[in-house]
This record gives sequence, C-alpha cells and structure tokens, in this order.
Amino acid sequence: MKLLLVAGARPNFMKIAPLVRALAARHGRGGNGQTSWRLVHTGQHYDWQMSGVFFAELGIPVPDHFLEVGAGSHAVQTGAIMAACEKVCQKEEPDLVVVVGDVNSTLAASLAAKKLGIRVAHVEAGLRSFDRTMPEEINRLVTDAIADQLFVTEESARENLLREGKDPRAIHLVGHVMVDNLFHQLALLELAPPLQILDIKRQLGSYAFLTLHRPANVDDAATLTGIAAAVNAIAEELPVVFPVHPRTSQAIARLGLTFHPGVRQLPPLSFREALTLWADAVVVLTDSGGLQEETTALGVPCLTLRENTERPVTITTGTNRLAGTSRDSILAAFARFQHSPPLPARRPPLWDGRAARRIIDILSEQPCPCPQPHDGQQAQAFTPCCP
Ligand code: UD1
Repeated sequence: MKLLLVAGARPNFMKIAPLVRALAARHGRGGNGQTSWRLVHTGQHYDWQMSGVFFAELGIPVPDHFLEVGAGSHAVQTGAIMAACEKVCQKEEPDLVVVVGDVNSTLAASLAAKKLGIRVAHVEAGLRSFDRTMPEEINRLVTDAIADQLFVTEESARENLLREGKDPRAIHLVGHVMVDNLFHQLALLELAPPLQILDIKRQLGSYAFLTLHRPANVDDAATLTGIAAAVNAIAEELPVVFPVHPRTSQAIARLGLTFHPGVRQLPPLSFREALTLWADAVVVLTDSGGLQEETTALGVPCLTLRENTERPVTITTGTNRLAGTSRDSILAAFARFQHSPPLPARRPPLWDGRAARRIIDILSEQPCPCPQPHDGQQAQAFTPCCP
C-alpha cells in the first residue's frame, strides 16, 4: 500500500506530524515493502514563520514534493494545488491520498486524487459550523462528500456525516492527531523551552493570549475595529499578548488601527513559542479552530471570537465559550469569564495522544503490536512506541 500525505497550510502541519511519526515508527522512514508513503507540501503557506519553522520544530521530514503554489484567490490557489497534485499523483501512483483539516490544500488534493480514481482518507472529517460563508466549511463539505475513509475527532462529526448519508463503515472515531502533537511537543518543551518567550512571560506576569486570522473577522473593517476595541478594553485590566497573522497585520495596517500599550504584538510564533505562552494564559481569545481544541485538551479557558464553532465538544466538554465578534459581546463574555470561569475541562473521549496510531492501524488493516495503556493509566504518562 502506498500513501500520499498532503499538507499545505499552518494548521495542517500539527496534524501531519503525528501521522508521519506513527508511519515511520511502524514502517520505517519512507516505508517498507508492505507500506510506503510520500509527503507533499503544497506551499499554500510558504514563509518560514508560517511553514518552515513548523517542519523543523514538529519533526516533519523534508517533503518529497514541494509544489510552491503560494497565495492567491480561492479559485486560483485551489486550482493551482489541484493541477500540481494531479501531476504528483500521476508520478507516485498512490493507493490512498491522506488529507487533513479544512484548508484549500485539503479540498484541492482530494479533488485531484478522486478524479484520478485514487481513494482519499480525510483526517478531521465531519466537523460542521453550518456556516457556508466560511471557506473552510465549503472545503469540509466537499472533501467529506468524496472521501472514502473519514477519521473523526468527536461524536458530533460522526453524526454530521451520517446525516449527510455517509456509510457508517467509512467513519472512524479515532481521537485527535492534533492532541497527539500537543502532548508530544509538551514533553519536548520541558527539555528546551524557548528562552525569549520565557522572558516575555516573566515581563507580563498574568496575561491573555490572542490570535485572530479568520477572513470574516479580519477582512471586514467594522468587525475588526470592534474586536480591536474589545481587546483594548481588556488590556486595561490584563495584558494581552498577540502574535499577529500576516492576513491580520495587513488588515491592521490598512485600517490604521492602534492598540492599547497593554497589547503586546508579536510576529507569528512557532508552535512551541505559542504553546509556551497560551498554556499559561489566564484566558485565550481566538478565532482559530485548532486552539479551541488544544485549550480544551490542556484545560485552559478559551473565548472564541466567532458566532459558531464546528467543534462543539470544546463547549459541551471543554473550556471553550463562544464570545461573538462585536465589542460588546466579547466584553460581556470576558466579564462572565472573570465572574465564573469554566469548570476544569474533561478531555473528550480518545483525545489521549494516540489518534495517529489508531489511524495507521485502520489504514494498515492491522493493529499496532505495541502495548496499550492499561485501565486508569494516564495517556500522557504512558510512553507509546508509535508516538
Ligand atoms: C488559511 C486557511 C485557514 C487557516 C489559516 C491558518 C484556507 C481557505 N484558509 O487561511 O483555514 O486557518 O490558513 O493560517 O485554506 N501569507 C503570508 N505568508 C504565508 C502565507 C500567507 O504572508 O506563508 C499571507 C498571504 O499573502 C495572504 C494572507 O497571508 O495575504 C492570508 O493567507 P491565505 O493563504 O489567504 O490564508 P489564511 O488566511 O492564512
């Protein structure tokens, strides 16, 4: 069996890393006679701070194919990735293309593969915001409509897929590869913490951690202005550390927005730098999908600057609350958080650091030979052989 793993944008890299590790642990680097694999980086994200640093930190090997598609409108970017992925598929002739998440690379690689008659596995399938103005929602719907194997992170995703008519035998609740990555990186962080970031933490003491990059929040002048006003008001009480995504820094510059001195703006951070900050934040303010889940996994309070989430388990089980996107709704959510912070989180089922291994078990049609943690043993304390 030959697999082609596809990654393209920043949130993909945290999901690809555990899959690559699990594959290498089981089948060796690049594979063996039984199972082999190749890695494709579409180049949807390309700056060192958005891409290269994640490959380096997360231990992802140099891709076998780097497609260098770069930025563009949705159609231009998606089309370029499709055309480039088609060539790779024709050259490599994989049995299965594995895509992760919900970015344009996920959609484009799936379409290119299926039109060549190649099977597709989607990791993080079934999430639905029910908001079709989100480009990611379109990517999720189309990818899941054509994918053959659907690996889901939470029960709601399985229900969504069943409602859309997917074959129950194709749906596998396996936990979350991003949580695998999180636990793996936490262990490494203890050995080599990023010193500059520790300095910033020392200077700030208590702080909120903010990320912002969704087009609906950032590209709309009134929305971004309202969010900035809320952030400035919060910074009167609590310093806010704010690594700024390229899309957001362009919008801030365009609108000439200014921030309270308590808002510490930083360039985009590496995974470990960001983790070092948000893991100890009083509260995380974010419009990221992944951070909603990662904060739940570590029990850090999270206020999501959106009207909806495709990850409801972070609210029903975890530490996440929807804060909306207006100045008033964000400040109301912040006040409510101060008055009654979320209860300590329960980690959603199977978010135990072993999702990639389950996926490889299913794809290889054979269980991993490694010992499983016994009942009651903490997943984090257990050292898996296929980490
Ligand atoms: C993309 C994903 C989104 C994901 C986000 C994480 C889609 C539809 N969207 O949105 O789901 O949450 O990535 O970052 O796939 N830019 C750089 N350097 C880079 C990459 C981009 O400067 O390495 C600039 C681009 O020129 C553009 C802006 O950042 O002006 C936004 O990039 P874009 O690729 O449009 O998507 P994201 O907003 O990052």
